[in-house]
Amino acid sequence: MSKLNLLFFGPPGAGKGTIAKEVSKKYDIPHISTGDMLREAVASGSELGKKVKSILDNGQLVSDEIMLDVIKERLSKNDVAKGFILDGYPRTLPQAEALEKILEEMNNLITGIIYLEVDEETVVKRITSRRICPKCGKIYNIITLKPKVENKCDICDVDLIQRDDDKEEVVRDRYKVYMEKTYPVIEFYKKYNHFFTVDGSGTVEIVTKEVFNILEGIV
Ligand code: AP5
Ligand code: MG
Repeated sequence: MSKLNLLFFGPPGAGKGTIAKEVSKKYDIPHISTGDMLREAVASGSELGKKVKSILDNGQLVSDEIMLDVIKERLSKNDVAKGFILDGYPRTLPQAEALEKILEEMNNLITGIIYLEVDEETVVKRITSRRICPKCGKIYNIITLKPKVENKCDICDVDLIQRDDDKEEVVRDRYKVYMEKTYPVIEFYKKYNHFFTVDGSGTVEIVTKEVFNILEGIV
């Protein structure tokens, strides 16, 4: 049986976090979202958070050096031994090279790469209507994935919030950064045997099912 050491790619708003949470639940492997980790650092007011806040708010990328420390520390935790989902890393070619080295040192391999393909207009619509729970991180959408009670988390019953980088003009900038810096990383990984392109424009149920089918072929 193969471990699921997964990379999730796709533009901002493609559904990486939404689908990764389903995979994490089903296979009991950690969902490692570098975006979530950086937002937690900002919310806690840590040194890292202070350094990266304005970069996140403007939709730009945090430096490869800072990200290397963040990802190295996270991948050194014991819970990754059973597999992991990386969502948001690597995002540049130097990050992809750094990851290869870290995994080599850990004697570990990437066993699956999922690329969620979604066009720019769809992601802008999805992101501007996204809401998240500040407590548990559950992802909602006021059009497609509404909470049971308006603007309240189904689980925590706290008010939902909008991410600071989810304004339309910032989303367009994030999309540009993605095309310029991250799309070449996807091109780099396309030659891998376990690279799968998934049409991310269907409903969450359809996309989740397709990803589960792919993963059944890996484990
Ligand atoms: P990050 O948090 O990674 O943001 P992102 O890549 O822009 O992706 P999103 O989280 O916005 O989208 P998603 O694909 O997870 O979509 P979601 O599932 O939420 O990074 C944020 C920032 O951190 C970066 O800009 C950068 O500054 C920094 N950063 C992070 N990693 C870095 C790195 N490695 N190097 C440098 N900087 C880094 O879904 C979106 C919405 O759509 C939700 O409302 C959801 O409910 C809805 N939805 C999802 N799927 C569907 C569907 N199939 N149908 C209908 N609605 C759907
Ligand atoms: Mg996300």
